[in-house]
Amino acid sequence: MKHVGFRIKTYLEYRRRAVNQYGLHSPFLFEFYKACFRPSYKHSFPSILSLRKKLRNNRNEILITDFGAGSLVSKSNSRKISEMYTSAAISKKQGEFLNRLVTYLKPYSILELGTHLGLSSAYMALNSTARVTSLEGCPNTAEIASQNHSILNQENISVQVGSFHELLPNVLSTIENVDMAYVDGNHSYDGTIWNYEQILPKTSEDSVLIFDDINWSPDMKKAWDDIISKPEISFSINCYKFGLIFFRKGVEKQDFYFKF
Ligand SMILES: C[S@@+](CC[C@H](N)C(=O)[O-])C[C@H]1O[C@@H](n2cnc3c(N)ncnc32)[C@H](O)[C@@H]1O
Repeated sequence: MKHVGFRIKTYLEYRRRAVNQYGLHSPFLFEFYKACFRPSYKHSFPSILSLRKKLRNNRNEILITDFGAGSLVSKSNSRKISEMYTSAAISKKQGEFLNRLVTYLKPYSILELGTHLGLSSAYMALNSTARVTSLEGCPNTAEIASQNHSILNQENISVQVGSFHELLPNVLSTIENVDMAYVDGNHSYDGTIWNYEQILPKTSEDSVLIFDDINWSPDMKKAWDDIISKPEISFSINCYKFGLIFFRKGVEKQDFYFKF
């Protein structure tokens, strides 16, 4: 498997540096950690759990347009929904975390890059007044995602079909402010930096951006390192699998590692 040695090395570094709330001096981060990472009560989301079970057992095949890591191409092939679920859908733990993030930070406008089967968008939209706009390049995958959102009665999600390059500038022109973005597609250096640079003009001091798979490959780690060193970022939080960046003023620039 590619990049295994690299992932072990970055994981050991993460384990060495990761702290919980007791390692945090900032009151904002202390409260944030407690609410989003170690909540006293965890919701169980039965509707999404039952959807997960159906997807896991769904042996139907669909023709997918595969964007691959670099997403520059497109070869079409057939894939079982159960396999798509197992290989790329968000974990229960990470999905529930996204939901807590939305509950705590109360973003109004959420942008997602990489809808897939619609699970991460479902977690972000559940029990929330947020509007989620989610972009997906594969039309058949997007169709399944929209069906899933209908099953969950989630009218606050809009799935837009097309490549990020084709869609993102236009979609962003219709959004006043991106309060939260979850970037989970096109895991290449150039694609990740391009996505960040497109979204940046629509962020405010209260925005949070989440990048997935920041330690998936040396290119993704470099993209993450380059993004968090930019002057507009006040602090970043590395959770190994994904990372969060904030633009809050009056906070010392720092790269935190949080136990997840
Ligand atoms: C890892 S999956 C997203 C998983 C989803 N966020 C979830 O957690 O349930 C990535 C998705 O992004 C889509 N994708 C990747 N690169 C893309 C691009 N450049 N344009 C449009 N879609 C892209 C893929 O088709 C795939 O469905």
